[in-house]
Parts: sequence; structure tokens; C-alpha cells
Amino acid sequence: MRKPIIVGNWKMNMTVTEAKAFANELKSLDLDSSVEKGICAPAIDLYSVKEILKDTDVKVGAENMYFEESGAFTGEISPKMLNDLDIDYVILGHSERREIFKEDDELINKKVKSALDHNLIPILCVGETLEERESGKAYEKVENQIRKDLSDVEKEAMEKIVIAYEPIWAIGTGKTASAEDADDMCKFIRELIGKIYDENASEVIRIQYGGSVKPANVVELMDKENIDGGLIGGASLKPDSFEKLVNFKRR
Ligand code: PGA
Repeated sequence: MRKPIIVGNWKMNMTVTEAKAFANELKSLDLDSSVEKGICAPAIDLYSVKEILKDTDVKVGAENMYFEESGAFTGEISPKMLNDLDIDYVILGHSERREIFKEDDELINKKVKSALDHNLIPILCVGETLEERESGKAYEKVENQIRKDLSDVEKEAMEKIVIAYEPIWAIGTGKTASAEDADDMCKFIRELIGKIYDENASEVIRIQYGGSVKPANVVELMDKENIDGGLIGGASLKPDSFEKLVNFKRR
């Protein structure tokens, strides 16, 4: 059985002061222990958030990283730096990184391999634009991204890695893919992992849906066979909303 996994992606929100207040409030909430949960925060917040949450079962992740351990890469953070803080996850290939900051699959592949080498759990994001969906190219786009981003990644890593299917047209727009469409793509991804690796890999890989997930639609999405979790932006920014998302089983 795959453990459900609900992860917040704060994006470029939350000052250190705000992040500390959020983490302290989170500690006082009764969060379902049968659900894996975490917050991916801006790099500057990671130290404080991890310190506050270190004795809880809430994992902490970064929103990106470079693949090298150190060196002349102004503005970047490294896997070694994340290891030093005991960080659990790192989001890689988010569509905002791909579209705004022009990260390509070759770079994302290097980052995925580096994260795995450093014992970080990569949350690899894939997804199509509205134009690609409307022209019937969504599946081809996602297949291409996965094949390239996982190039030379070992089968054993499928137990660790999380894939987040995030249709770009559904991110921050209030438009959610229907639970059926989201599940169809997650099923397609699962079968693709089966083809690239084997059946066991397709059974263990955890696949999230992301794109306007909120307390009002989380139950319907999480009910779907191939959706193991959610990667959540806007609705993860308030502790009470994050609590409702994590505690989806109780509703
Ligand atoms: P959203 O963002 O929940 O605000 O749509 C999701 C994401 O980009 O990870």
C-alpha cells in the first residue's frame, strides 16, 4: 500500500517571521499520522521551519536546488546545504522553474540524480500547457518529460521518488483538472513507469496531483486509485487549510 502524501509548496511566499509562526501553529494541530505530510518552503525559511518541526512527523522540503555540492554558482543552494539541515524533499522541475526560469529536462535530470545521490526525496513535477491539452498532446508531453527527467535513474529510486502531475493551466488559476482527468494522467504515468522499469516500480511509485487542490476538492481527488497525494500551493499557506488537506480521511 502506498502511503498518501500531502505536501505544501509555498512558492515565493512567507517571510521567516511568517514561516516561524506557521510552523509553531502547525505543531499544535492534530494531523493524521497515517498521512505523510510536508512543507516545501523558500530556502531562507528552511532553517527555522526545520528547527521548529524537527520533533514532529511533518517533513520539510526545498523548492529547488542546483545539482553541484558547492562552487561558483551565485544564488543557488546545494544538496549538501539541504543535507546539513536534514531536509527531506526537494521539488524539481516545477512548471514555474521550467517556464519562467527556462530550466530544461537535461538540467532537471541532473538535479533528480543529484537529489537521489544525496538522499533527498525528489518531487518531480510534470504537466502540460492548456494549448497542449487542447491539441491532444498532453500525454506525449508528460511522457517526454518523464523519460528525459528520469534518464539513467535506477529502478530502486522509484520507491523514493514522487512524481507530481501538475497541468500548468490548473496551477493557481482556481481551475482543477476533473478528478477523472487527473486520475487518467496519473494512471498513464504509473503505466509508463511500468514500461520503463517494471511492474513493481509502477506499484511503488507515488504520484501526486497538483493544481488548485483545496479542502473542498481534496477528498474527491484522493479517492482516485492512481492519485496518491497532492502538491498544494495557495491552499497550503494557512495552517487551518493545510490541516484540512492533511486530514482528508476524516471528512
Ligand atoms: P496551486 O499550486 O495549488 O496554487 O494551484 C500548485 C503548485 O504549483 O504546486
